[in-house]
Amino acid sequence: MIKKIIIDRKGNLSYYKKGDFHSLFGTLKEADIKSGVVKSNIGKDFTVFDADFIDNLTKIKRGPATSHYKDIGLIITITGCGVGTKVIDAGSGSGNLSAYLARIGCEVTTYELNPEFYQISKENLENLKLKVGIKNKDIYNGIDEKNVDLITLDLLEPWRALSHVLSSLKSGGFLVCYLPTITQVMELVKNLDNNFYLWKISEVLEREWTVDNLKVRPNNHMLGHTAFLVFARKI
Ligand SMILES: C[S@@+](CC[C@H](N)C(=O)[O-])C[C@H]1O[C@@H](n2cnc3c(N)ncnc32)[C@H](O)[C@@H]1O
Repeated sequence: MIKKIIIDRKGNLSYYKKGDFHSLFGTLKEADIKSGVVKSNIGKDFTVFDADFIDNLTKIKRGPATSHYKDIGLIITITGCGVGTKVIDAGSGSGNLSAYLARIGCEVTTYELNPEFYQISKENLENLKLKVGIKNKDIYNGIDEKNVDLITLDLLEPWRALSHVLSSLKSGGFLVCYLPTITQVMELVKNLDNNFYLWKISEVLEREWTVDNLKVRPNNHMLGHTAFLVFARKI
C-alpha cells in the first residue's frame, strides 16, 4: 500500500510505501517521513502528506490500456450509477473502471478473457479491498447475470455481445461502450437495431491549467484522444 505522497522542490511527486526515501535532493529517513514539510539529509525541503484510496488506485499494476478517469466521470454521471447499481463490466483489463464503479457502491461483476489480465485485475481489486466478482470468461459467449442496470464494454467488438446484453439488461438499463475509433462507433450503432435506443455519443476533453503568479494559462500539453463513449438504453 502507498502510505505517503512526497513532493520535492521541483514539484516531482513520489508515491511512498516504506523504507528510506532517496532522491536527487537527498535522503529522507523512514522515521522522519511524516506529514508536513520535511528536510532531507542535505537540507532540502519536501512536502509530505498521507496517501488515500485514489493514490493506490492511480498506481495499480497495468495490463492493457485502462479506461481514462475523465471518461469514467461521464459514465458515472450520465448513467447515474451508484450504491446498489448492478453492473457488468468487460473486459476487466487492469480493473480500473471496475474499481471506480465499485468504489461508489456499484455491485460489479467483471468479465475478462485473457488469463494474465484476469490475474492482474483480480490482484488490483483485492489490494484495493473492493468487492467485485471477477470472471475469467469471454463475454461474447454469454452473460450469466440477469436484470442488470448497467453494462460497460471496453473491448474491440462490442456488437458481438449485443444479443447477450439484450437478455441481461433490464428495460431502461444502460449499455456503455468505450471505443477508441470512430469506425468502431459506426459498426456498433449499425448493430444496435430496434431493441436499443441510442442515448448519446460523446468524447471528453480535459484541459488542465497552470496558476503560478502571473503565469495563468492552460498547460502546453493535453491528452488529445482516449475514446468515444456510446450510451444506449434497452427499450
Ligand atoms: C482496454 S482493456 C479494458 C480496460 C479496463 N476497462 C480498465 O479500465 O482497466 C480491454 C480488455 O478486454 C479484454 N477482452 C477482449 N475481448 C473480450 C471478451 N470477449 N470477453 C472478455 N474480455 C475481453 C481484453 O483481454 C482486455 O483485457
